[in-house]
Amino acid sequence: MRALTWQGTQDVRVETLDDPEIVNPRDAIIRVTSTAICGSDLHLYDGVIPAMKPGDVLGHEFMGEVVETGADSTLTKGQRVVVPFTISCGGCFHCRITQYSACENSNPVEKQDMSETLYGHPMAGIFGYSHMTGGYAGGQAEYVRVPFSDVGPIVVPDHLDDEQVLFLSDILPTGWMAAENAEIQPDDTVAVWGCGPVGLFAVQSAILMGAAKVIAIDHYPHRLELARQLGAETINFRTSDVREALMEMSGGIGVDAVIDAVGMEAHGFTIDNILDAAKQKIGIGADRASALKQAILAVRPGGRVSMPGVYGGMTDKFPLGALMEKGLQLRTGQTHVQRYLKDLLGMIEEGAINTSFLISHRLPLEEAATGYRNFKDQQDSWTKVVLKPGG
Ligand SMILES: NC(=O)c1ccc[n+]([C@@H]2O[C@H](COP(=O)([O-])OP(=O)(O)OC[C@H]3O[C@@H](n4cnc5c(N)ncnc54)[C@H](O)[C@@H]3O)[C@@H](O)[C@H]2O)c1
Ligand SMILES: [Zn+2]
Ligand SMILES: [Zn+2]
Repeated sequence: MRALTWQGTQDVRVETLDDPEIVNPRDAIIRVTSTAICGSDLHLYDGVIPAMKPGDVLGHEFMGEVVETGADSTLTKGQRVVVPFTISCGGCFHCRITQYSACENSNPVEKQDMSETLYGHPMAGIFGYSHMTGGYAGGQAEYVRVPFSDVGPIVVPDHLDDEQVLFLSDILPTGWMAAENAEIQPDDTVAVWGCGPVGLFAVQSAILMGAAKVIAIDHYPHRLELARQLGAETINFRTSDVREALMEMSGGIGVDAVIDAVGMEAHGFTIDNILDAAKQKIGIGADRASALKQAILAVRPGGRVSMPGVYGGMTDKFPLGALMEKGLQLRTGQTHVQRYLKDLLGMIEEGAINTSFLISHRLPLEEAATGYRNFKDQQDSWTKVVLKPGG
């Protein structure tokens, strides 16, 4: 099969590899019909997530047709399914309390050491996301092996096309969980940092959850425009003082809840971000957390901080005092995708959620390297890239 492989920092290539095979009875093999590039993939592309090996197959947002099933899979050949990026067994302590992204059984024991040392507990399995999360081959490929296929994949009806449902695999539930973690109340003013796919779905979710006002922050005019089209007010952080603007827009109190949909590669020329970028470059840690820091300072006392943005290690000059003295709540995590699939699919069917407005480019899998380069370097116009294997 053809598959996109990681070869090194900013070096990805489509190569011919062996087709995947059923390894365990609960596996299924999916022929991928659509797969997307995620902001999380950019962290791998930029080499800021450890434990990647040359040849690893990328991709954790994908859907397709079931072509082979193990003896204990509940899927049948020919079904169309969307697959969550988190690999979860469904039976361990964490899966049973719907904390699927903390599954204890999906990351093989021999792969657990690094995340256990870094975080105190091993991470769960994730498709195409380094050997810290199991070293699973991802779905930016013609075929992919899906473990625990009786738990993760959701069967989608034929009247919904791929682009309406593909983002159930990650960014839609991620935006939704980000808004849920912000515990939005009807009169709330909510600020969202980052108008990438995750930020845009967080904006849409916050509005659906009844926020009175949603303010989106970025520096790319087109991405800000997409947020406005969803009903948000916007701030361009290059041309405005974000904290001052937010104070003004929230009646001098500060916003009730903040969502960091930026993560570990924040842009901007604040001194802390320049220092963090230098440390990141030479590999001595430091997630670039300047958007998160700004969010913590901008939220009102007693407010909520939701952090869907991905961070990998340590960060410097974290405003711990502000978190404590203002009595803030911080909630974060890899998304518990499986928890949200049924409800979100229902909302897509009802037309309550628009899922395809953010797609800017559709490319054959063979052109995936172009997709990665432009999704990184031309972020304003390349808002979301969908890859078509076999296309
Ligand atoms: N928690 C999860 O399960 C999960 C799932 C998917 C993605 N993510 C993470 O969410 C984050 C966003 O993903 P995405 O696909 O939208 O990525 P993206 O790179 O397309 O978007 C990030 C956006 O943040 C903006 N930005 C950068 N610095 C900023 C700053 N200082 N202030 C305001 N905006 C700033 C960028 O201009 C860009 O538009 C990433 O860190 C990604 O890894 C997390
Ligand atoms: Zn993703
Ligand atoms: Zn589990």
